[in-house]
Amino acid sequence: MEKLSWVEISKSALQNNIIQFRNIITAHTILCPCIKANAYGHGLVETAGIFLNSGADWLSVNALYEAKSLRQHGINCPVYILGYVPLKDIAEAIDLDCTLVVYDYDTINMIGETAKHSSRTVRVHVKVETGTNRQGIEPDKLLNFVQYIKKFKNIGVEGLSTHFANIEGTTDHSHAELQLRRFNKASAELEASGLHIPLKHCANSAAAIIFPETRFQMIRPGISCYGMWPSNETREYYTEKIQGNFHLTPAFTWKTKITQIKTVPKGEYIGYGCTYKTTHNTRLAVLPVGYYDGYDRGISGGHVLVHGEKAPIRGRICMNIIMVEITDIPEAKTEDEVILIGKDGNEAISAEQVAEWADTINYEVTTRVNDRIPRILVE
Ligand SMILES: Cc1ncc(COP(=O)(O)O)c(C=O)c1O
Repeated sequence: MEKLSWVEISKSALQNNIIQFRNIITAHTILCPCIKANAYGHGLVETAGIFLNSGADWLSVNALYEAKSLRQHGINCPVYILGYVPLKDIAEAIDLDCTLVVYDYDTINMIGETAKHSSRTVRVHVKVETGTNRQGIEPDKLLNFVQYIKKFKNIGVEGLSTHFANIEGTTDHSHAELQLRRFNKASAELEASGLHIPLKHCANSAAAIIFPETRFQMIRPGISCYGMWPSNETREYYTEKIQGNFHLTPAFTWKTKITQIKTVPKGEYIGYGCTYKTTHNTRLAVLPVGYYDGYDRGISGGHVLVHGEKAPIRGRICMNIIMVEITDIPEAKTEDEVILIGKDGNEAISAEQVAEWADTINYEVTTRVNDRIPRILVE
């Protein structure tokens, strides 16, 4: 069946980004790319294989269904589930040999009870709250919690983790520094009580790239494994202060085709809400993509690329359709390819550019592209 839109994923770009991370960490540091949210929209299983072949050691996902899909596709590396696993699903997570994040007694009790019937030692990573105030156990409860887990013979406390709240969207890193101090203190308190946890980790992309002291024994970068900077602030900080050799290559190209071309007379409205009125006879191309596919409805001032030229969006983004002006691209015809995100000749539309039009961040732009749209690996 003909596709109405599709995403091409550059294998070499993904490989390059993993190599970039491999180059900034020691050989002993575990590289655990974050491939939740359909690998940030890049295709879970396809991306997993490329990352592992390029130097990744582990993979991290958000939910059990993602871990299950990796196992079903024969991926046997350690898979760390970052998000909540419902108590009734713990047995399945253990069966799939997943590594689990823990921060509450109910989960530990369920793992302990379930693991009794398994020959496995279940590996858990304790998440400590250091200032993001979402998932994690408070530092003053950490020691008792770890001591409690240690009583279960079939549970191994392999990791201690935390997550930064404000490391990418700012050049003021004081909150991240505070979190790092709290993390180090929590870890030192455990050590002082004779509780050594081998893998400490807290670094997302921004932390791993610009703060070597956050890398510890493992890093969990997400966005930059796909070739995107976490923010302009991180890119600028890296360029100005670190001036290293770390280069990212975006891997994501979203394409569609023109389904209809028409000329709309001057003074006519285009689309729902009559938000755009033509100022001249307008050659219009209709594209079979809309907000259902993940193209943000809030975008009005953006453009797409047709024959390597900018074709401005006219009128509102519909559920399944976008209208663009091609008056100045006379060679455009029905079924010609259109770039929604990506490069064409000298022009390019980055995820960051689309994020700016939609008043959001690059993370949301690629993860929002509907999973139903095919991801095709290209060299
Ligand atoms: C717990 C955790 N670790 C790592 C990451 C990766 O972060 P980034 O994509 O900023 O590198 C995320 C992403 O949200 C996360 O939630």
